[in-house]
Amino acid sequence: MKKREEIDYGNWVSASMMRMWTVTTLVATALCVVCFLLFANGPVATRWIIGGILLILTAGLLLTTVYFGICRSLFSYKGKRRIQSRILDYVLSYLKFDHGSILDIGCGNGALSIKAAKKFPCAAVTGMDYWGSVWNFAKEQCEANAKQEGVLDRVFFREGDAAHLDFPDESFDGAISNFVFHEVKSQSDKRLVVKEALRVVKQNGVFVFHDLFFEKKYYGDPDDFVRQLKAEGVQEIHLVCSNDEKFIPKILKTRFMLGRIGLIYGIK
Ligand SMILES: C[S@@+](CC[C@H](N)C(=O)[O-])C[C@H]1O[C@@H](n2cnc3c(N)ncnc32)[C@H](O)[C@@H]1O
Repeated sequence: MKKREEIDYGNWVSASMMRMWTVTTLVATALCVVCFLLFANGPVATRWIIGGILLILTAGLLLTTVYFGICRSLFSYKGKRRIQSRILDYVLSYLKFDHGSILDIGCGNGALSIKAAKKFPCAAVTGMDYWGSVWNFAKEQCEANAKQEGVLDRVFFREGDAAHLDFPDESFDGAISNFVFHEVKSQSDKRLVVKEALRVVKQNGVFVFHDLFFEKKYYGDPDDFVRQLKAEGVQEIHLVCSNDEKFIPKILKTRFMLGRIGLIYGIK
């Protein structure tokens, strides 16, 4: 079991995902070699049909593994580009906040919660997540990260479900979230997940949510969604297309990786 003492914010392309693609590619390569050896003296047609199919499959797997490897290195907090960190800074740049309480919904390994605590020294930040098995994120790692970053006295972590937040209405002065709502399996209507997030924000409180807001399959028409939220009482709300941001490399903007991302931010 890994000791949770070092800072580790994880990677949106997880190590286990990379392992899975690498092992599958290696197995396919081995199968290719075995196939060519087995049919070395057999009929040429058989060798090239079976071998050809396996070769195409292996090439596809190899390309996918390389693609995910490049994305992982671009995202990495240890790499040169540090895109994960820069995306979280970008999210916080839209939070017009001074002091009070902030909720980070789906906090993962606590990166955004901790950045918020460091940016706003008068804030008390709560990070919540369900910490399921899909991601290599954990509450203990969040706490270890907050301790290493010197903000453990102002950052708290709680387990919960983003679709049914365990907080009364209007509990927080601000709410933030990055790439979470579309992942919430306990609620198929992602607009309702956003509304649940807004429920716990105080009147005049602020919010910044970053997600696949331009993917119609999750939110329908984004402008229509914004109009709906306004009609339901949100005072001020803006929609920003993050795909236009130059600091995010094109290779990450494909539908296999970040997809059609955007921010909604404003005042409740
Ligand atoms: C792409 S990760 C983003 C993590 C973090 N916000 C960040 O930017 O590093 C998606 C996160 O959503 C969390 N998540 C998924 N479904 C959830 C749910 N129903 N309730 C709370 N968190 C959830 C996952 O555990 C994971 O931490």
